[in-house]
Amino acid sequence: MYVPLLFVHSLVRWLVLASAVFAIFRAFRGAAKNAPFEKIDNRAGFLFLGLCDLQLLLGLILYFGVGIYSRTALLDMKGAMKDSILRFWGVEHVTAMLLGITLVHVGRALSKRASTDLAKHRRARNYYLAALVLILAGIPWPGTVYARSLIPTL
Ligand code: HEM
Repeated sequence: MYVPLLFVHSLVRWLVLASAVFAIFRAFRGAAKNAPFEKIDNRAGFLFLGLCDLQLLLGLILYFGVGIYSRTALLDMKGAMKDSILRFWGVEHVTAMLLGITLVHVGRALSKRASTDLAKHRRARNYYLAALVLILAGIPWPGTVYARSLIPTL
């Protein structure tokens, strides 16, 4: 279960990043041109949010269920803090991602509630961009001690 779930979680990472870039591009464009908030802008936000929620669900199963590193960290959190790899999987990855996903939720809700199209674009732009920065910061990039492959492998 661990390997297939990690594979899907790793794959969905790229869909999350692609949908984030698209939603942010649409929001920047809309704000810069003072363009109407179109169906495609709403769908871009919806897709970004939906993929984040899917990633959250997979992440929770990994974190509390089958994730080898996270479960090891959870068994001894105090000890995990002294090990950079266990600290990353036990605390840093989850914290960055949960904050990022929260920002996507808040940003989409506030954007929908805004009274003008310009405000909708601006709110989406600001919150989605901040979320992307956090998500990028939480990814185990090559070159770090907790690095994982960029290519999902089974
Ligand atoms: C947009 C959000 C997220 C992204 C982009 C993301 C990305 C990743 C990536 C790239 C990996 C490594 C996959 C591999 O080894 O090939 C990973 C592993 C993992 N992620 Fe996430 N993740 C996200 C959210 C979360 C959340 C919210 C949680 C927990 C609640 C979580 C928990 C984990 C766990 C437990 C592992 C595996 C650690 C182990 O090997 O034991 N992730 N994630």
